[in-house]
Amino acid sequence: MTERKSPTAVLHEGPRALTDEQVREIEESDLKGVLDVDIDDVIEYVHKDLKTLPDFTMLYRKYLEQRWNVYELDFTQDKIDWTEKMTEDERQSFIAIASGFHHGERQVEIELPVFMIGASEEEKLHIAAQIEDEARHTVFFDRFYREVVGLPGEDIMDVLGASFPWVSETFLGPFGLLAYQADEVRRNPYDERARVRYGTNYFLWIEGVLALSVMKVTLSYARWRGFLPAYYTGFTATCRDESRHVQGGMRYLQDAVRKDPTMINEIHDTLRTILSLSGVYSREIYYEPLGWTQDEVRMLFFQQLRRKLGDVGIDLAPDLEELLQRVQPVLAGG
Ligand SMILES: [Fe+2]
Ligand SMILES: [Fe+2]
Repeated sequence: MTERKSPTAVLHEGPRALTDEQVREIEESDLKGVLDVDIDDVIEYVHKDLKTLPDFTMLYRKYLEQRWNVYELDFTQDKIDWTEKMTEDERQSFIAIASGFHHGERQVEIELPVFMIGASEEEKLHIAAQIEDEARHTVFFDRFYREVVGLPGEDIMDVLGASFPWVSETFLGPFGLLAYQADEVRRNPYDERARVRYGTNYFLWIEGVLALSVMKVTLSYARWRGFLPAYYTGFTATCRDESRHVQGGMRYLQDAVRKDPTMINEIHDTLRTILSLSGVYSREIYYEPLGWTQDEVRMLFFQQLRRKLGDVGIDLAPDLEELLQRVQPVLAGG
């Protein structure tokens, strides 16, 4: 983690192709090796396979190879960076973004099992693996908040309670919507329309747009400043896990639309709901201390959404394009 590139440099450069060697480095690095992997390459890697999406068995095999041990991370240097090197403004911005993730990981972990019921047997393998990934991500943030930020708490729920004041989504937003959609799927697990609405919010919006944007902002900050090595390692490994989640989710949505082209209406309606709510009832986040402007974060959002939909052959409706221009980005993830 030695490079000192400006955090937004790659945003302005746009998409680029990865070499075979870069792909191998991302796929085969062990946890220690992940510290040397560039976060921009991992975000690019998420999109690499979208045009020819891997099947669920292949994603499950990748999971078995890429699984990492969250208890191997050592946060000693991160604690020093957090308390002695980062400014109060940097800490506040960072925590405002990371808290959405802290809560998001735990929520997606407990809301994924209902989606498994109506899935094909191959997809069940992939979802079982994803639930374990999300559990590990929950422990990653629990450790970061206890050992680096220093929030008090006897158990996972206590520490979540202590970071809640920084969460920017207040009642209404994608996570509130996901709780509702998970309940809909729980009541009718084989209702394909309910599953597509759930999948659009969880895999496309929360993981594919929000989560990858948070990763990009906080990890490019850490790399730029040379701070928080264990956070960088664990969260970049998390990003590699998310690439499997996004690919599986986009595979699911693509198959659903191919089987029944009217499913695209469910995808558009769900995005309409999310975009209409976005930012309206949320606390504002100041990104500047981490090297980002509000406009750059917005640009990152749209890039993330457009690339995913475009790569799997799903178009945006014209009114959604208009809505996108008005959205205030609020970062969180799972
Ligand atoms: Fe995920
Ligand atoms: Fe996750």
